Amino acid sequence: MKQIFSKAMARNIFLGSAVFFLVLYVALSVDTWGQIPQRDHAADMSLSAQRGKYLVDSNNCIGCHTINGEGAYFAPELGNVYTRRGPDFIKAWIRIQPSGVAGRRQMPQFHFSNQDLDDITAYLKWLSHIDTNGWPPNIQG
Ligand code: HEC
Repeated sequence: MKQIFSKAMARNIFLGSAVFFLVLYVALSVDTWGQIPQRDHAADMSLSAQRGKYLVDSNNCIGCHTINGEGAYFAPELGNVYTRRGPDFIKAWIRIQPSGVAGRRQMPQFHFSNQDLDDITAYLKWLSHIDTNGWPPNIQG
């Protein structure tokens, strides 16, 4: 078979492309990391929201739910639930679980205090303001 490139040319194209894409990868990563403080606004996280995050993490809500797409697909996305439902619905919802409605998936009763529910809601509110470039798409209406 006729060779189009010499061995040295093929090696240079390979190495050149590898270096080019490595530099591009590093540049895009640095750009993304630079944007994270504005996007996740972690500095705005109140103490209440931090406690709420602890409660959500330690009770394994993402064993059933997703948060910004991460977690299990058994129950609705929580990253945007504050915008979809608002604080009063969320607290009332968590209080009355399990719903016992036939044919619907069930969520356990966690026996949270009012303070716990305020903290969880503060965390869900903070989550709802993270700029995720619209991910995940709100398909639950
Ligand atoms: C064992 C699974 C399971 C766990 C664990 C769980 N949930 Fe749920 N959750 C569900 C299911 C299923 C639904 C939807 C039920 C329905 O629509 O009837 C739901 C619904 C919700 C809703 C309402 C969502 C909406 O869009 O209306 C909120 C808010 C919520 N869960 C918060 C939480 C929080 C906070 C935790 C952790 C403390 C948690 N859940 C843990 C199963 C779970």
